[in-house]
Amino acid sequence: MAEIRRPDDMARITTPELADAFIAEQIKLVKEQVGDKKVLLALSGGVDSSVVAALLIKAIGDQLTCVHVNHGLLRKGEPEQVIEVFRNQMKANLIYVDATDRFLDKLAGVTDPEEKRKIIGGEFIEVFAEEARKLDGVEFLAQGTIWPDILESEAGIKAHHNAGGLPEDLNFELVEPVRILFKDEVRVVGVQLGLPEGMVYRQPFPGPGLGVRCPGAITRDRLEAVRESDAILREEFAKNGLAGKVWQYFTVVPDFRSTGITDGKRTFAWPCIIRAINTTDVMEVTVEHLDPELIDHLVKRITTEVPGINRVLFDYTPKPPATVEYE
Ligand code: XMP
Repeated sequence: MAEIRRPDDMARITTPELADAFIAEQIKLVKEQVGDKKVLLALSGGVDSSVVAALLIKAIGDQLTCVHVNHGLLRKGEPEQVIEVFRNQMKANLIYVDATDRFLDKLAGVTDPEEKRKIIGGEFIEVFAEEARKLDGVEFLAQGTIWPDILESEAGIKAHHNAGGLPEDLNFELVEPVRILFKDEVRVVGVQLGLPEGMVYRQPFPGPGLGVRCPGAITRDRLEAVRESDAILREEFAKNGLAGKVWQYFTVVPDFRSTGITDGKRTFAWPCIIRAINTTDVMEVTVEHLDPELIDHLVKRITTEVPGINRVLFDYTPKPPATVEYE
C-alpha cells in the first residue's frame, strides 16, 4: 500500500465538525482497506491506541479484536478503565491479559535502566504475539501511529515502531487511521468518538510505565508504593484544578531508606519524590511551583496512606540538567 501522507494544505482539526468529517472519511477508507477481514490492535489505554480503537469499532465493529496487556506497571485504575470503556461501553471485542507476574518475574533483580526497558518491550511483544497466534484469520494490524512519529522517523530521531517489531510469522498489513494527525487533532477526534475526556486529555505516560519510576531493581512492595502515591497525587491535582494545567506530574520511590517516626515508633522506610513539570516540547522543562498548602496536604496524605513511605521530597530541578524521568 502506498504511504499515506498529510496533505500540505490540510486544515488543522480543531472543531467537532472537522473531527466528524475526518471520522466519516476514515470509516470509509478503513472499510475499503479491510473489507470483511479481521483486524488486531494492541490497546494500551493511551490516547493514540484508544482513539484508533474507538474509530475502528465504529468502522468495522466486531471484525476488530483489541488486546490489552497489563504488564503490572500501569497506573492505579488504568486496566479497569480500559475494560469499562471498551468492553462494557463500546462493546469491543477485548482480550484482557494480566501478565503482571510474567513481567515482574523477568524484571526481578534487574537494575540497569536500559535492560529494564528492553525486558519490558521484548516481553510485551511476546505476550501480544502469543495472543495473536491464538486467533484465526487476522490479516491486519491497527496501530496508533501519528504524524510526528512519521516525521521523527524520517528525520532519523526515532525508529518508527513499524508493526511493533512483531515476529516474521505474524505478517500483518497495517491499518493506521490517525497517521496524518497531530496529537492535538487526535484528542479532538477522540472526544467526538465519545471517549472520556480523562482518557483523551491525559498526561503523557511512558511505555515502560511505573517501571522507570521505581528506580533500580523493581520489587512489588516498592512498585505498589509508587502506584499508590501516584494515585494520591493525581487525585489531589484533579481536585485542585491542576490536572489539565500541569503538563506531567508523578511520583518516584527510590531504593533507599531513611529513619522516621510513626505513632511513637521508629520507622526505616522509603522517601517518595514528587515531580511536576511544564513544557511544550519536552526538550526543556520548567518546574511547577506548588501551593504550600497543597504541599503540606500531599505530604500528610502520602506519609499516612502509603505503606513503606515515611518522607516526601519535591524535585525542583528543570530539564536540563535533569531529565523528566529518573531512568
Ligand atoms: P525524559 O526523561 O527523556 O522524558 O526527559 C521526556 C518525555 O518522554 C517520556 N519518556 C518515555 N516515553 N518510553 C516512552 O514512551 C520511554 O521509555 C520514555 N522515557 C521517557 C517522559 O515521560 C517525558 O514525558
